[in-house]
Amino acid sequence: MSTKVIALANQKGGVGKTTTAVSLSACLAKRKQNVLLIDLDPQANATSGVGIDKEEGASIYSALLGEADVRTLIKPTETKRLHLIPSELDLAGCEVAIARMDNYLHCLKNALQPIVDQNEYDYILFDCPPSIGILFMNALYAADSIIIPMQAEYLALEGLSVILSLIDQVRDAGNPKLRIEGIVMTMCDLRTNLAQQVVDEVQNHFGDVIYETLIPRSVRLSEAPSYGQPIIQYAPISKGSMAYMKLAKEFLKRQQSAPSA
Ligand SMILES: Nc1ncnc2c1ncn2[C@@H]1O[C@H](COP(=O)(O)OP(=O)(O)O)[C@@H](O)[C@H]1O
Ligand SMILES: [Mg+2]
Repeated sequence: MSTKVIALANQKGGVGKTTTAVSLSACLAKRKQNVLLIDLDPQANATSGVGIDKEEGASIYSALLGEADVRTLIKPTETKRLHLIPSELDLAGCEVAIARMDNYLHCLKNALQPIVDQNEYDYILFDCPPSIGILFMNALYAADSIIIPMQAEYLALEGLSVILSLIDQVRDAGNPKLRIEGIVMTMCDLRTNLAQQVVDEVQNHFGDVIYETLIPRSVRLSEAPSYGQPIIQYAPISKGSMAYMKLAKEFLKRQQSAPSA
């Protein structure tokens, strides 16, 4: 199989993108997949989440501008088979620089080509920034598919329609093969009626695109980043860890069956 490139994206902040990117990457690595996580958010939460210190000039910025080979930016992490291209604050400024380039929506895709050609990774996962800027659009142009983390809360569906129409636009404008890999419901507190109603509503609306695995709200998941450890290392038998392991299993099972929407 060739390297599959997946964007974890939702234009809303605080919905569990980074938590899902870090946790799912680590769980896939645990299941013997070679994973490259690319932190595209200037806030660099995925970088610190896997225990890598921010370092000036270490982000993908230089590769986006065509000034560095992206392969020189890859760092191993404490988790076996999980590698990272970190982020740091300079990524915030890169939008302006990229905007001046020809083909400015394809910078990330072009930069990643040497890695994809090498076929060394099973999956490349992007942790996307929460705003619809040039970096975010580059992620959608470079991706084969998108996983949408979504918080089980009031008006969740409205936010979803924004990202869905964006996907349609990107399909029309230059990445026709972009698929929805799946929607993950995060921070579910199923003891509340509201969360259950949202889950039901989203399931009715989107059916099989929603992962069956629901990610519960868990204090351990919110603590893990400050220890620089993915949840499966920080609290392997917690309910958050078990949920993400289950998600990884479901994700891999889907790879073998029918393609997603
Ligand atoms: N399932 C969960 N249970 C409890 N806290 C969570 C959970 N998922 C995420 N969080 C916390 O919620 C906040 C936002 O999550 P994060 O993954 O950073 O979202 P995003 O990347 O979409 O902004 C973080 O403080 C994170 O630790
Ligand atoms: Mg984030």
